[in-house]
Amino acid sequence: MNLKTDSVITGSVKERIDRWVARYPDDQKQSAVMASLRIVQETQGGHLTPDLMDQIADYLEMPPAAVYEVATFYSNYEHQPVGKHKVCVCNSISCMLRGSEEIIEHLENRFDIKPGEVSKDGRFSIKKVECLGACGGAPMMQVGKTYYENLTESSVDEILDGLE
Ligand code: FES
Repeated sequence: MNLKTDSVITGSVKERIDRWVARYPDDQKQSAVMASLRIVQETQGGHLTPDLMDQIADYLEMPPAAVYEVATFYSNYEHQPVGKHKVCVCNSISCMLRGSEEIIEHLENRFDIKPGEVSKDGRFSIKKVECLGACGGAPMMQVGKTYYENLTESSVDEILDGLE
């Protein structure tokens, strides 16, 4: 092992990752890469750094490039700091046709930030994402694990005002 910093894959993080690793044959530990990225992201302040991804690669005995590939392909992995509440607005076709651009603009004005940035108080960040599979409720957004559908500017405000 040749890590740049102390390993974060210890204690409960290691236990959680090991539970995923145990689901696969011994020579296919790398199948746990998505879960490992999620667990490390959740427990290390909400975004992944090259060092964290290297640690996962090392732990799962896979090339770092393969970990980076997964971590950059899926929009649920973050590579920049995020707010306490990550507001992900779908900007794929159904949502776009039903006003997602206006919702995003409303959020930009509300927080005085652009997608990819964090509000000054650290509470919110905005992200444009691809289809989240709730096209029937377009336009929609995801905050944490919750989907909010058929959004209007006022329903967005109501939802955000209700968050801690
Ligand atoms: S297009 Fe937005 S959820 Fe599918």
